[in-house]
Amino acid sequence: MTNPLTELQQERNLNVDDQFHDSLNHRSTVTEELLRGLSEQSGRLCVLGAGNCHDIDLPKLTQHFREIHLVDLDTDALNRAMVRQNVADSPSIYTHGETDLTGVWDQMADWLVNTVPSQQKVASTISKAARGPQCNVPGKFEMVASVCLLSQLIEGAVKSLGESHSQFADMVRAIRLGHLKLMIELIKPGGHGLLVTDIVSSVTAPALENTPNDLLPTYVADLINQHNFFHGLNPAFLCAIFGSDPEVAPHIDGYQLLNPWKWKLGKRVYAVTAIKFRCK
Ligand SMILES: C[S@@+](CC[C@H](N)C(=O)[O-])C[C@H]1O[C@@H](n2cnc3c(N)ncnc32)[C@H](O)[C@@H]1O
Repeated sequence: MTNPLTELQQERNLNVDDQFHDSLNHRSTVTEELLRGLSEQSGRLCVLGAGNCHDIDLPKLTQHFREIHLVDLDTDALNRAMVRQNVADSPSIYTHGETDLTGVWDQMADWLVNTVPSQQKVASTISKAARGPQCNVPGKFEMVASVCLLSQLIEGAVKSLGESHSQFADMVRAIRLGHLKLMIELIKPGGHGLLVTDIVSSVTAPALENTPNDLLPTYVADLINQHNFFHGLNPAFLCAIFGSDPEVAPHIDGYQLLNPWKWKLGKRVYAVTAIKFRCK
């Protein structure tokens, strides 16, 4: 059975498939962060939401990581990316397509097609999302990156449950918590995570396009103060989870919020930020 939420993601990936060159700045920033402070050979990297891989330089990463595992719903996007970056024959890159990273994607798609069920049924889906998905990617990793995926997972709740639903905020919190728990679960003791996320786009913040990079932190802080950011992705709230959530904070051995940067993707410009953390 086709999943309309998956189809939407596939269509979007296809629409911006040709934006590889325009994504150079974003890709360099993310790749540099993944490589910062690493010795020449640094074990295994897992990339969640890899999709078109516009945000990772695969040839460069293969020089530093023994294995790279790319995970996404969209198998075709992963395959196109491997060809585009000339790594289709690389023995160190493994793709894991058709992998749902919420554990409740089919359930949410069902709400989109049919009607939203009783509060009790939604509550059980919320509990499931908060536990995090079962992910079949083998083993633990020195580095796990989530690359502009969380906004899409949360958008699943926007499309299926709707922003005005009384349990919407709980659903967003559950998806976010489940995602952070998944990252932690995949990271080896002493390993690192890089949660890269888009925060807001030029659709609601048109001045983003012409804001110089040095003024971006102030501009984005103003947008956040005005509550102009994607649901569940206020960087201060994300940091608060790393610092004090009872299911997350005990596993964290320090975290750092990076300054935002811009990613021009098609007609839109996104403000993107990242939280780098180390697991105990
Ligand atoms: C905005 S894109 C991220 C950017 C992507 N890394 C790139 O370089 O183009 C979001 C990605 O998340 C994937 N995705 C969305 N929902 C997902 C889910 N439930 N499970 C796994 N992947 C999902 C989409 O297929 C898409 O490739």
